[in-house]
Amino acid sequence: CGIVAYVGPKDAAPILLEGLQRLEYRGYDSAGVAVVASRALKTRKVKGRVADLAAVVPARFKGATGIGHTRWATHGVPSDVNAHPHLSSDERIAVVHNGIIENADALRQRLEGEGVKFLSETDSEVLSHLIARAVDETDTLEDAVRRALKSVVGTYGIAVVDAQRPGEVVVARLGSPIVLGIGEKEMFAASDVAALVRYTRQVVHLEDGELAVLKADGFHTFGGDARETAKQPLTVDWDTGHYDTGGYEHYLLKEISEQPDTIARTLRGRLDDRFHVAHLGGLNMDARETRSFRRVKIIGCGSAYYSGQIGAQLIEELARIPADAEPASEFRYRSPVVEADTLYVAISQSGETYDTLAAVQELKRKGGRVLGIVNTVGSAIARECDGGVYLHAGPEVSVASTKAFTSTAAAFALLALHLGRVRDLSPADGRRICEGLRALPEQIKEILTQEEHIRALAHRYATSAGMMFIGRVRGYPVAREGAQKLKEVSYVHAEAYPASELKHGPLALIGPEMPTVAIVPDDEMLDKNLTTLGEIRARSGRILMVGHRETDQADDCIVVPKNQNELDPILLSIPLQLFAYHAAVALGRDVDRPRNLAKSVTVE
Ligand code: G6P
Repeated sequence: CGIVAYVGPKDAAPILLEGLQRLEYRGYDSAGVAVVASRALKTRKVKGRVADLAAVVPARFKGATGIGHTRWATHGVPSDVNAHPHLSSDERIAVVHNGIIENADALRQRLEGEGVKFLSETDSEVLSHLIARAVDETDTLEDAVRRALKSVVGTYGIAVVDAQRPGEVVVARLGSPIVLGIGEKEMFAASDVAALVRYTRQVVHLEDGELAVLKADGFHTFGGDARETAKQPLTVDWDTGHYDTGGYEHYLLKEISEQPDTIARTLRGRLDDRFHVAHLGGLNMDARETRSFRRVKIIGCGSAYYSGQIGAQLIEELARIPADAEPASEFRYRSPVVEADTLYVAISQSGETYDTLAAVQELKRKGGRVLGIVNTVGSAIARECDGGVYLHAGPEVSVASTKAFTSTAAAFALLALHLGRVRDLSPADGRRICEGLRALPEQIKEILTQEEHIRALAHRYATSAGMMFIGRVRGYPVAREGAQKLKEVSYVHAEAYPASELKHGPLALIGPEMPTVAIVPDDEMLDKNLTTLGEIRARSGRILMVGHRETDQADDCIVVPKNQNELDPILLSIPLQLFAYHAAVALGRDVDRPRNLAKSVTVE
């Protein structure tokens, strides 16, 4: 979900709506705004998109203090009443909330027992009633918010306004991001810098447990003990241009097409051609420590997890350290054994995914050493980790991850090179990998020139009832991510399997109505993969092969340039992004905002 807040001399509504538009990728099933004017609240909220909300906000919606929200439903279906802001019964307090209030049922029962009437089914509504009760007994809004939050169990990022206190917004965070934006005689807050960059580059990230009071002339932040905390503003280097579609029809296509640049940015200044090593200044590890790890464990969710699988293979192959990847959402719940000689690596584009953040916190609690591979500078996961590698891929707006995925894989190649070269990776192999990495941007450009061919194939295959994606070893994470992309954006059922496992079960599904996308790199596995294609052909299965040379074992082929075997997965992933994109367009899907999903899942 997305939160925006404003206090200053201008009308809040247009600023809130603009900010919400930029946050829409975080959730988009309902939206709402509230502003304070003449000691009263004005609110509008609707089921649907921010554009639907803008259509019902009248031109004369005056008020220079306000809050807004775009929602991804957890408790209660998407509807007008379940949309935020939620108001207190006397319409004095309005609240927008991200996160989950775990004891909402108990609090609701208690409040209903005291005569409070609830309007929505959401867990969030308890907050407006709790704050309204506290506000009569306290001198300040911040005290009322603090008192209300004391009875809450769960996670939150909130913004609160009080009709009796125009010119003031209170925000607080626990587990769900809040960033303050410092303007000229105006203050902003949001769940994501995306909503702020149009107005200011000076931001302050709240820590868990912190609360802030915003007024036009500045802000004050307080820790959990209500003592004032000192904050150093950070300058963000992303600007609004990064958040425009830049002439492309969709963000997804823009972000796929940006990959020659984004990969180059991930690599910039990090490759050393003299010693064939990688310089990763943000790891905060000395040489002795770098050599001390005996295992690498990688965690992340969704596409981040699949890029972690590519990362694990790179580390095993180049650094010869046992490595594996696991979904952060699983890892955090299974009471993992945390070992001192294991290097943990958390991956997140947004740096805010709650499951990943919670896994990192659990690791830190148990003394684990955690690196972050993160795109968003200053995000919660980046701050929580001991060190890490920023991707520098620029903001990723489309819900389906593309450029962050390939940049993460490239960052892992750098990490593997770094770990390998202080172990037994030879200078010659180091050089081979450096050269391979440098070749990636041009090779990606070459793949992008095949868009028309891939589009034609996507249109042809998009009507399939389902598709199988297969790959062996290095090709398997590529197949998994390819299947993930297709289901996310086109809603075509796609199943990924190790090619070697096909004959142990899923071959039963193969037939003319279930085509297979086969990842067939020109490596040690080539013959094995061609045998698998033969087995599919023998069952009348159609095959779309993605690899390095055409084969008549396949009905259709996409050929990509060859790099080093270890780096090929990066290039092989790109046609599958274009394939999913064009399949989704062919089926008329909402490409950048697929149903039921959100870009950053900041709840459990
Ligand atoms: C959500 C998105 C996925 C993404 C995952 C991890 O589920 O829908 O596309 O891969 O979160 O996001 P992160 O920001 O942590 O990389």
